[in-house]
Amino acid sequence: MVAGNSVHSLFDLTGRVAVITGSGGLLGLKHAEAIAEMGGLPVLVDISQQRCVDAGQEIKARYGYEALSIVADITQPQAVADILAQTLTTFGRVDILINNAANNPKVENGDLAGHWSRLEQFPLAIWEQDLAVGLTGAFLCSQVIGAEMARRGRGVILNIASDLAVIAPDQRIYRQPGLEDGQQPVKPVSYSVIKHGLIGLTRYLATYWADRGVRVNALSPGGVYNDQEPEFVQRLTNLIPMGRMAQQDEYKAAVVFLVSDASSYMTGANLIIDGGRTCW
Ligand SMILES: NC(=O)c1ccc[n+]([C@@H]2O[C@H](COP(=O)([O-])OP(=O)(O)OC[C@H]3O[C@@H](n4cnc5c(N)ncnc54)[C@H](O)[C@@H]3O)[C@@H](O)[C@H]2O)c1
Repeated sequence: MVAGNSVHSLFDLTGRVAVITGSGGLLGLKHAEAIAEMGGLPVLVDISQQRCVDAGQEIKARYGYEALSIVADITQPQAVADILAQTLTTFGRVDILINNAANNPKVENGDLAGHWSRLEQFPLAIWEQDLAVGLTGAFLCSQVIGAEMARRGRGVILNIASDLAVIAPDQRIYRQPGLEDGQQPVKPVSYSVIKHGLIGLTRYLATYWADRGVRVNALSPGGVYNDQEPEFVQRLTNLIPMGRMAQQDEYKAAVVFLVSDASSYMTGANLIIDGGRTCW
């Protein structure tokens, strides 16, 4: 029970073990930092060994804490079972799961260049690969790690969705000069489907485990500024009432709220933090 606790203590994560998928990426590392800063023990999971190593070094440098790093492909059931096993062997418990990993093609890396992303020719292989990471991976991690939480009668799952979990992408912002309409890059259909699907997964799991002490919520962040080209930033920020993209650190406090006892009466919800974009 958390009633009567001080507000400070409700946000405290001392000793809480948090598995974070995709923690070698842009936001995954921020989630890990937020947890470490509040005394929690992040378990860094990423398919990329290098990203895992880099994230571990970052956490060590900032918080002096040697995080458990697990290189794993969350689309593989055995790999997910191994994540749980290694976590329990090391800590004997798991309190938090953040389903964060996704294929997230980045404008700033030119990932959308070319017209492969258009619906008419969107490759089935990419559709399947995207769903495998963003939805199947979240399902498998929830199934395996959530079941352990339910067995223990306590835990929190946080699904990282997107503003594109509640609105359609405005494809005009991805346009490149000099290309015909049929050649213009777009935000892939798989991204929208996965993010909307995560909201469904959130509600399903929240009600499924409501009586087992496992809370399940989603966080829907808006776009994070990461040196995207100014034309893109201008087009996107025109859609955002606050007139800017998010800074990389601006979701950390919300993550702590959602995975800590501060949100003890919250489950099945989707917290949208998007500078107001979805109001417009
Ligand atoms: N960056 C943004 O502007 C933004 C905005 C809204 C929502 N989001 C969401 O936040 C989450 C993180 O985004 P990001 O920008 O940090 O992405 P990112 O691409 O920087 O990081 C994703 C990480 O997931 C890892 N990964 C990919 N496939 C994996 C697999 N099969 N198993 C384990 N790890 C795997 C990658 O190696 C990578 O390190 C995503 O769900 C994304 O959709 C991001």
